[in-house]
Amino acid sequence: MAEKFKVPRGTFDVLPQQSAERERVLAAAREIFGRAGYRNIQTPSFEDTALFERGVGKSTDIVRKEMFTFEDKGGRSLTLRPEGTAPICRSYVEHGMHKLPQPVKLSYAGPFFRHERPQAGRYRQFHQIGAEAIGSDSPLADVEVISLLSDLVEELGVPGVELRLGSLGSLEARTAYLDELKSHLRSRSDDLSEDVRDRIEINPLRAFDSDDEGTQGVMKDAPHLLDHLSTEDSEHFAEVRELLGAASVEYVIDPTLVRGLDYYTRTIFSFVCSHLGAQSEIGGGGRYDGLISQLGGPDTPAVGWAAGIERILLALDEEVEIPGIDLFIAVAGPDQRAKAVALAAELRHHGLAVEMDLAGRSMKGQLKQAHRTAATHTLTLDEAGAAHLKGVEGEARDVEPAELPELLLRN
Ligand code: HAM
Repeated sequence: MAEKFKVPRGTFDVLPQQSAERERVLAAAREIFGRAGYRNIQTPSFEDTALFERGVGKSTDIVRKEMFTFEDKGGRSLTLRPEGTAPICRSYVEHGMHKLPQPVKLSYAGPFFRHERPQAGRYRQFHQIGAEAIGSDSPLADVEVISLLSDLVEELGVPGVELRLGSLGSLEARTAYLDELKSHLRSRSDDLSEDVRDRIEINPLRAFDSDDEGTQGVMKDAPHLLDHLSTEDSEHFAEVRELLGAASVEYVIDPTLVRGLDYYTRTIFSFVCSHLGAQSEIGGGGRYDGLISQLGGPDTPAVGWAAGIERILLALDEEVEIPGIDLFIAVAGPDQRAKAVALAAELRHHGLAVEMDLAGRSMKGQLKQAHRTAATHTLTLDEAGAAHLKGVEGEARDVEPAELPELLLRN
């Protein structure tokens, strides 16, 4: 026998019975984005590798270890997108969106790729939904995007979610603090994990995120960026907090919050679910005021987030019932097939969900199949060509096919 194939490591099939709950998440997100004017944008699944190196940052885990990078036949280095913000900023610059009324409010949903060690809630192909407000430095923009994710979590009924909030300050103001943090790390370098030690100079903030015990001990008395913000950055952060209060979004301040991408400035946030294990972040994001200019565009402030659909589904842990169809058409024999096909097509044009047997089943088998599809009505076409309609309960009655649309639509 020929060898069978399996999905590649860290990936999965979404089977029909799993589609309904996924669709519910996407539909809720679409609705929330639409209500707030975040219009859908779609970018390619792969981009120039340099876009991510420059956008996400060479010192990040994503760029150092997790990218699916390949050379195409023209010798170009391409990478399956590990995240959506750098591609969207590339698109903003490429299409001159700075000429549009600002901010440009965008939303997206689709697959992303990271070569991580797979575990529950962490995959090599996963799906994100996200929102970006590009071209406003107002704290109102921070609060608007945060509210979108907060609304999504609430409308879906995701249990045990906490919003953690922090600020990284602006790039210029951060330098003095980073020097202080680096000397703290250097003074205790023997206690740090190798990974953190190697990155003291290029990415010292990531030490806050380490799960290494020694590093965690060192970080207990590390200086916090929140205590070193410039006056403007502190005021911005204070306004974000005040407006979140006005929008009735609950949060906790987390002075040790950091994120895995280099582009963040000022506000950062993370929605964490206590019902999930190690991979407990459902979604997160923040401001990235320097990214667009770094990608060759004009100086443009921006803020946004992305959430992992699989993590939301894990946290919800529910099955959405697949609705039954409106009608199953059963035929007494081959002579009625043409009539059944025509009738199914006509009723589907009326917007009804209609199925018929495609496998040559006996009448008994067809009625069983009708039951499996949870059809609210079954129509049998007998040998004389007469039609009998039966609801889930009640007696069958003779009908004229012409009356069916009205009869069924009324139900
Ligand atoms: P991120 O924190 O890297 O941010 O990813 C956002 C979310 O994607 C995470 O909170 C998690 O739910 C999900 N996620 C990430 N990696 C995986 C994985 N391997 N398997 C399953 N789910 C995963 C970003 O991607 C930024 N682009 C967010 C952003 C938008 N910041 C500003 N705008």
